[in-house]
Amino acid sequence: MFENVIKNDVTAAVLERRTIREYTPEMLTDAQLDTVMAAAMMAPSGRNSQPCHVRFIKNSDILKEMQIDFKNIVGWDTPVHTRSDKNPFYHNAPVFAAIFAEGASYMDAGIMVENICIAAKGLGLGTCIVASVGALFEDADKGAKWRRAIDIPEGYRFLIGVAIGNPDEKPEQKPRDESHYKVIE
Ligand SMILES: Cc1cc2nc3c(=O)[nH]c(=O)nc-3n(C[C@H](O)[C@H](O)[C@H](O)COP(=O)(O)O)c2cc1C
Repeated sequence: MFENVIKNDVTAAVLERRTIREYTPEMLTDAQLDTVMAAAMMAPSGRNSQPCHVRFIKNSDILKEMQIDFKNIVGWDTPVHTRSDKNPFYHNAPVFAAIFAEGASYMDAGIMVENICIAAKGLGLGTCIVASVGALFEDADKGAKWRRAIDIPEGYRFLIGVAIGNPDEKPEQKPRDESHYKVIE
């Protein structure tokens, strides 16, 4: 890590965040959920266009059903979808936030999802950003069903999701390549 890093609550949340794929069953408190929702809403967007609609799904029956539909679409033994070899969708977290947008607002969705992750970390929560579940929401049949069920406006696409909950593991930091970062004097 770079030599002169300043540690405060904000930088600690950024630097110490790790992807969490094991969660306790404990639900987020209302205050925790409101705080991560506020962090999502306050994310910057190009020209303040606010292109994203986000659904914080905390209903475990819905999440379980979604996961079954997802696995029926991608297959129950597809390596890319079994990275955690348990629940590659929401990793058994109590909340899954699904970010949808009109058009290709990948940048705005990406900034928003990181806002959620950092705010969650600041609250002692863990997160796992999940792109692979896109196949569910893009499926002509099941995707349309779920987009309707969670009230996604017509024409909006799933861009990224994030599992949120109380961590039940302490993963090591994943390697980073410092050579990608250079100061030009
Ligand atoms: C755009 C994006 C998509 C990701 N999609 C998935 C995913 O579908 N499933 C998963 O388990 N992790 C996913 N991750 C988590 C990455 O694997 C993880 O961030 C990376 O290995 C670095 O580890 P760290 O977050 O602990 O630093 C995704 C991360 C990003 C930024």
